[in-house]
Amino acid sequence: MLKISVIGTGYVGLITGVGFALKGHEVVCIDNNKEKVEMINNKQPPIFEEGLQEAMNKVVLSKLSASSDLRKAVLDSDVSFICVGTPCSEEGKCDLTAVESVSKEIAFALKEKKAFHVVVVKSTVVPSTTEKVVLPLLEGNSGKKLGEFGLCMNPETLREGFALQDFLNPDRVILGLKHDETKKVMEKVYENFSSPKFFCGFSEAEMIKYASNSLLATKISFINEVGNICKKLGIDTYTVSKGVGLDKRISPFFLNAGLGFGGSCFPKDVSALISKGKELGVKTLLLDSVMEVNELQPKVFLDLIKSKTELKGKKVGVLGLAFKGGTDDIRESRSIPVIKMLLDEQAVILAHDPKAEENMKKEFPEISYADSAQQTIDSSEIILILTDWNEFSSLDFKDKLVFDARNILKNKPVNYEGLSW
Ligand SMILES: NC(=O)c1ccc[n+]([C@@H]2O[C@H](COP(=O)([O-])OP(=O)(O)OC[C@H]3O[C@@H](n4cnc5c(N)ncnc54)[C@H](O)[C@@H]3O)[C@@H](O)[C@H]2O)c1
Repeated sequence: MLKISVIGTGYVGLITGVGFALKGHEVVCIDNNKEKVEMINNKQPPIFEEGLQEAMNKVVLSKLSASSDLRKAVLDSDVSFICVGTPCSEEGKCDLTAVESVSKEIAFALKEKKAFHVVVVKSTVVPSTTEKVVLPLLEGNSGKKLGEFGLCMNPETLREGFALQDFLNPDRVILGLKHDETKKVMEKVYENFSSPKFFCGFSEAEMIKYASNSLLATKISFINEVGNICKKLGIDTYTVSKGVGLDKRISPFFLNAGLGFGGSCFPKDVSALISKGKELGVKTLLLDSVMEVNELQPKVFLDLIKSKTELKGKKVGVLGLAFKGGTDDIRESRSIPVIKMLLDEQAVILAHDPKAEENMKKEFPEISYADSAQQTIDSSEIILILTDWNEFSSLDFKDKLVFDARNILKNKPVNYEGLSW
């Protein structure tokens, strides 16, 4: 078993740390947010993720600890995973500020270290970043050449809401690396994972992540466009998706028509790939459209609502604020543009989400929040379902007018409108 340091303990870093600890490694999680560090050491998950509390109860103190001392963590471990955020800059580019700063700090520690150490980039970074940004920072600030330390690009493919399960049983482990010694260490890191290991170069590993996310986002925008046509024709899009998904070449996944994709990955990763393409003089017609369809979808939903009812002064119950069910993450949630448009229409909003209310209160302090979904329904004139939380699927909507943007209801209420079905 190895000693692993995980730098950046957000959604990916914490799951990575807990996941490796469950697999038997000794892990230290590093974050510059002291509050998070304290919470982790007290076995309190700073984020909501199914099964995380139980897993932390098992591994914190025995196999996992948290700290803000990056230097010590690198000196005391065999491998360091970089898991800091790579948000979208104003121009849609991949913002590498945190990756650069952490790479430098790791390099300073490497300078002091005699033993072989492998640095792994797990953050999603645009192709050529590991080779052209991370490597020069590591070499330049450690005084060592690649080979004297190891470098690997290992993108993460977990889905929030299923994060631990995905981390522990990924479809494949992508490992972009150059040297045999690094390969041996990474094989040891992943020795208790039965998933296939796919070895390639740094930039191929980076591009596999972008191509995968962009293809999944494309499927969503594709089915949303098909769904918008189906709606006008009175065709049930979900029956169409089922029929299409039976084709093995297509697969049934990511063909759920609805409000579009949000979250911390798809929007920013597709934007970053578009931006890289433009920088290289490559036209990105398809990816531009994927984003355009996604931006349009909340507007299509609002137009549907407005075609059935007045919004000014209406009590509107919003069910779902997280970007999808199973998480408290509201980054790029499609609920945000919908709420903005409802406010422009002067609707009176009462919102509820099982886990994401506290995060959304920071974004929209001016709207009201309910303690339960049923209270939201009872106190509102019309109901909008914006997130696919399981617990919304069998509520009693009475005779309220329901606009569903996620198609999750087991029984359709009497007054029901699906977004694109
Ligand atoms: N969230 C996902 O579902 C997901 C899935 C796959 C890949 N990714 C990628 O993984 C990366 C991390 O995403 P995330 O959602 O976990 O981000 P996040 O914002 O939740 O977490 C980043 C963490 O890094 C910490 N941090 C920032 N700068 C630091 C520094 N200098 N030193 C120490 N800690 C620092 C922050 O405090 C934060 O806790 C991104 O590149 C993202 O694209 C995310």
